[in-house]
Amino acid sequence: MAGSALSDEAFERRKRAAAPRRATIADREQVIDCLTAAFATDPVMAWIGRRDAKRDKGRRAMFSFLVGTLGLPGNELWTADDFSAAALWVPPERADLKLPWWQELQMLPSIVSFTSFSGLGRVDAFRKSAEAHHPKTKPHFYLMTIGVDPKFQGQGLGGALLDATLAKIDAKGLPSYLESSNEKNVPLYKRHGYEVTKEFRPAPDAPPLWGMWREPRKR
Ligand SMILES: CC(C)(COP(=O)(O)OP(=O)(O)OC[C@H]1O[C@@H](n2cnc3c(N)ncnc32)[C@H](O)[C@@H]1OP(=O)(O)O)[C@@H](O)C(=O)NCCC(=O)NCCS
Repeated sequence: MAGSALSDEAFERRKRAAAPRRATIADREQVIDCLTAAFATDPVMAWIGRRDAKRDKGRRAMFSFLVGTLGLPGNELWTADDFSAAALWVPPERADLKLPWWQELQMLPSIVSFTSFSGLGRVDAFRKSAEAHHPKTKPHFYLMTIGVDPKFQGQGLGGALLDATLAKIDAKGLPSYLESSNEKNVPLYKRHGYEVTKEFRPAPDAPPLWGMWREPRKR
C-alpha cells in the first residue's frame, strides 16, 4: 500500500509541474531554494563558482540576484505550486541579457559571493562566451534556468514544466534558445524540440555547454 501511496504522490507532483504558475514576490525565497538545490552538482556552476565551504551560499546569492533582476520583473518565472520545480525564462526584449550599468554594479556582490574574488575571471569568460554564441538574428525566449528539487529529479517534473511553459511560447509563435550546462540534459531538450546549434567551452579547463535552438510548434 505504501508503494501505491508514493506513486500517487509522484503523479500529483508531476501534475503540479505540468500546470505551473507565475512566481510572485511571495514565492521568491522558495523558488531560490529550489534552484539553488537543483544546481548543487551542475558542472558549469561548479566550475564558475567558489570551491570552498561557502559554495552553496554563494550559488544561492547568484540565483537570488537572477530571480530578483530578471525573473520577477520579467514575469516569466514559473513555478510548480509546491516549489518542486521552477523555470526562469527571459522574454525577447531582454533575451540579449544586457544589463544597465546600475544592475551590473548591483550584481557585483552576488558574483563575488558566488565565485569569490579569485573566480571573477571565470565569470567573465563564461559571460563573454555565452554572449558570443547567443543567437542574435530572431526575437526569442531564453531559458535562463530550469531546476527540479534533487529529491524529485528524474520523475518527469522538469519535462512537464518545460512543456507547459513552451506551450505558452508556442502560442506566441516564438522560437527559444537555451544553453545546456550538462550533457545529461541534451536528450531531454531534444525530446522537446531543441536542436544543438553549438558546443562551446568558456575556457580550456571549463566543461562544455550546448547552445540549443527551438522553432515554435503548432499545437
Ligand atoms: C534538468 C532537469 C531540470 C530535468 O528535470 P527532471 O524532472 O529531472 O527530468 P525528467 O524526469 O522530466 O526527464 C528525465 C530526463 O532528464 C535528463 N536528466 C537530467 N538530469 C537528470 C537527473 N538528475 N535525473 C534524471 N534525469 C535527468 C535526462 O535526459 C532524462 O532523460 P532519460 O530519462 O532518457 O535519461 C533536472 O534534472 C535538474 O534540475 N537538474 C539539475 C539542474 C540542471 O541541470 N538544470 C538544467 C540546466 S541546462
